[in-house]
Amino acid sequence: MTLDWIDRNPRARALPFGRDQQYVVNPNGVPELLDMLKACPVHKETPLYALPALAARLGVGEVRIKDESQRFGFGAFKALGGVLAVYDKLSGAVGEAYRSSPTFEEVLSGEHRRITGDYVFTTASSGNHGRSVAAGAKLFGNRCIIFLPKFTSADKEAAIRARGAEVIRVDGDYDTAVAECRRQAEANGWTIISDTSWEGYEDTPRSVMRGYTVLVEEVIRQWRPGPTHVFVQAGVGGLAAAVFGYLWARYEPRPRFIVVEPESADCWFQSNRAGKPTSASGNADTAMGGLACREISPVTWPVIGLAADWFMTIEEDRVAPTRKLLAHPLDGDPAIASGPSGCAGAAGLVRVCEDDEAFKMLHLDKRSRVLLINSEGNLGEGDA
Ligand SMILES: Cc1ncc(COP(=O)(O)O)c(C=O)c1O
Repeated sequence: MTLDWIDRNPRARALPFGRDQQYVVNPNGVPELLDMLKACPVHKETPLYALPALAARLGVGEVRIKDESQRFGFGAFKALGGVLAVYDKLSGAVGEAYRSSPTFEEVLSGEHRRITGDYVFTTASSGNHGRSVAAGAKLFGNRCIIFLPKFTSADKEAAIRARGAEVIRVDGDYDTAVAECRRQAEANGWTIISDTSWEGYEDTPRSVMRGYTVLVEEVIRQWRPGPTHVFVQAGVGGLAAAVFGYLWARYEPRPRFIVVEPESADCWFQSNRAGKPTSASGNADTAMGGLACREISPVTWPVIGLAADWFMTIEEDRVAPTRKLLAHPLDGDPAIASGPSGCAGAAGLVRVCEDDEAFKMLHLDKRSRVLLINSEGNLGEGDA
C-alpha cells in the first residue's frame, strides 16, 4: 500500500457480534429508549438526506447523511448521550434506594429529590458533550461543573453557561481537561458523566453510547436496504462505536466501517497500527474541536479496534471546502449546515473518492451506498 493516510485493520475479520461487543453497545435496550423519548416534548427524528448529485460526482451509487444538526434544537448528536447518562445515574440511585426502577416522569418531576438532589455532575468536554451534560443536570435540577480545554470557543462556553452550569477552563487540551476533571471530582465527591472511559470507569460512557444508538435506529428505519459503507468521524470513539456496533448487530453482512480523524488527533489511526490503545501522533491542535482527542476511549476497542475496516486521516484544509460543499450543494441536493467536526466524515469520503487507489481498496463503486453523519451544525464556528 502506498498511501500513508489510510490503513486497513488487520484484525477486522468476519467476527460475529458477540458478548464483548454487546457489552459496549447493547442493541436490546433501544426500543425502551425510544419509548422514553416519546415522553420528551422536543424529541423528533432527525432527517436522513439523500445527496444524489454528490453521489454522482463522487462515483458512488448513493450518499445519505444523517443530519444531527437538527437534534432537539441542540445542534449536535451529543444531546442524545449526556442527558441520558445523567438520567441513568439518577434513576439508578433511586432504584437502589427503593429496590425498584422509577419511571422517567418520576425522576423528572423531582419526587425523588431527597435521593437525587445532592448529585453534582461534572465532565470534561470540548464543548458539545458538556452542553449535553449541562442540559441533563438542568432538566433534573442538579448542580453541574464543566471542564473545558483552552481551545473551546467562547460561543460553546456561553451555551454551556446558558444551561446553568459552571465552567472551569484548563490551561491545556481536552486530555488535560479530563485529568483535571477527574482530580477535582475525586476531591469534591462530584459524579463524572464522561463520554470517554478509563480503567474502572466504563458504565457511564456505555450509557452515553446507548443514547447515541437512537440515531442509528432511526437510520435503519429511514433507509432500506441501508448502507454498504459507513464513514464516521472519531474523537474518543463513542459515536463510531455506537454507529458501527449497532449496525453490526442488526445487519448481516455488516457494512464496511471507516473511521475518520484529523491528522493531528489520530489516536484511532495509531491505535490500529499498534494493535492496542495508543496516543495520537500529533498535539490534537485541530479546527475539528469535537475530534481533538489524543487518547481513545478504551471500552470501545472490541467494536472499533476489532471491527472497523479502515482508519484514515484528513488534512485541516479539507474542513472549509467540505462545509461549503454541504452548505451550497450541487444541483438539487439539500443544503446542510455543518460544523468543523460535523463535516469530517464527508471530508473523509471526498478524500477517498479523489484517490483512485483508495477508492478501489474500499470497494467503492456505482453500487455503493454510503452513510455519513453530520454530527453537528454550524454552531457559530465561522461561515460555511
Ligand atoms: C460534533 C462532534 N462530532 C463527533 C464527535 C466525536 O465523538 P466521539 O468523541 O464520541 O468519538 C464529537 C465529540 O465531541 C463532536 O462534538
